[in-house]
Amino acid sequence: MSNYTRVFHGTAFTSRSNKEVEILKDHLFCVNEDGMIKKVIGPEHSEYQPLVEAYQDTSNYHRLAEGQYFLPGFIDLHVHAPQWAQAGTALDIPLYDWLNTYTFPIEAKFEDIDFAKKVYNEVVTTLIANGTTTALYFATVHKEASFLLAQICAEKGQRGLVGKVVMDNPDQTEECYRDHDTKTALVETEDFILAVKELAKSTKQGVYPVVTPRFIPSCTDEALKGLGELAAKYNTHIQSHCSESDWEHGYVKERFDKNDAFALNDFGLLREKSVMAHCNFLTDQDAELFAEKGTAVCHCPISNAYFANSVIPIARLQSKGVEIGLGSDISGGFSPSLFDNVKQAVISSRMLEDGVDSTLPANERGVPNSRITLDEAFYLATAGGGESLSLPIGRLAENYVWDAQIIDTTVETAKLPLYDTAEKLHDIFQKIIYLSRPENIREVWVQGQKVWDRGTY
Ligand code: GUN
Ligand code: FE
Repeated sequence: MSNYTRVFHGTAFTSRSNKEVEILKDHLFCVNEDGMIKKVIGPEHSEYQPLVEAYQDTSNYHRLAEGQYFLPGFIDLHVHAPQWAQAGTALDIPLYDWLNTYTFPIEAKFEDIDFAKKVYNEVVTTLIANGTTTALYFATVHKEASFLLAQICAEKGQRGLVGKVVMDNPDQTEECYRDHDTKTALVETEDFILAVKELAKSTKQGVYPVVTPRFIPSCTDEALKGLGELAAKYNTHIQSHCSESDWEHGYVKERFDKNDAFALNDFGLLREKSVMAHCNFLTDQDAELFAEKGTAVCHCPISNAYFANSVIPIARLQSKGVEIGLGSDISGGFSPSLFDNVKQAVISSRMLEDGVDSTLPANERGVPNSRITLDEAFYLATAGGGESLSLPIGRLAENYVWDAQIIDTTVETAKLPLYDTAEKLHDIFQKIIYLSRPENIREVWVQGQKVWDRGTY
């Protein structure tokens, strides 16, 4: 019998496809020393009983208690870590004003490394406690503080993909929050990439540098071109915002006489490991370009309700073969929880399908075939995120990493309404996703290591 570092035993929910959740009842998840799931074994398998007997009295065996379930860790594809400092405020004004009056000034404060340390420690801990095992972060323009964020992810055991933000366009940014000049922005980005790659060597779960032009308005052509070249040179991930709102989409159209997708592609920024936030206004042609390049869309449903002037047609983009994941977009989205964003993704899609103006006849009110189910939204927060990042994460399956949350439905202060002992497991899954609070997230594991235990906090 193989020698496993840990054996987890219990019922798990994981995506079978982008349409359907798979229920693995009372399965064994055998994890090796690298934190990879080497075997998933069901009760009918001949190795099941011998394995249980071999491991059950050892400290490597983790048997879920009654009422507990495994979920894959969530993958948040879009977080502005510094904006945690203003989460939950200033959501009543349009994107352009929100960026200039609130967001850029708060991000400018991250020049102060002590302030950065406080906020970054708290946001990373908060995300882990909400079940987020991997996060794709925008930091700020400051190289030092951006590196500190990567260090904090490394220390706390979260798989952080971190970008030093580039903003060098004097027409769209104030002097107090801008890269010194284009050359400096590119040199500092390259330094940052090398430093994070070095840091990654000392982590089990990995931390990754991300090339991060904030969005087209903030960047000069020269910076966009240089960043595309750096991403190609080091084969890094890339992140930016794309076709988010009427204003932003219109700005790019006026500057380049094309949509964001084609403009970003001209600078080499649409690649396999690129993740573009929002993308509400992608045309079919833009979507086909995304699919061809392997570039992913990050859907940020809570943020979109405030800033995107529209509901993104997720079902249509999926039908074009675009990879899609889910993001909190802290603080355009106020919630640090992907549970909240999964729910909002479902709700927004229903409103898109039915329409919202009750004075219109029903058949003119909405966009047919737009709804997504809870299973589909769960996929976006898990397996879809993993595919978007081209990493073996987001599924509790063989040859994926053991990144998991243990959900306890019996917590005294947040008990889920489970009264029927014969309740169907798919109904339990739905209750978990719709009703779980952070208290229900008992433990969080990343790459086979426990990074959160509610009992110890
Ligand atoms: N576009 C450019 N920067 C931002 C940001 O911080 N949040 C959102 N939602 N959109 C942006
Ligand atoms: Fe954003």
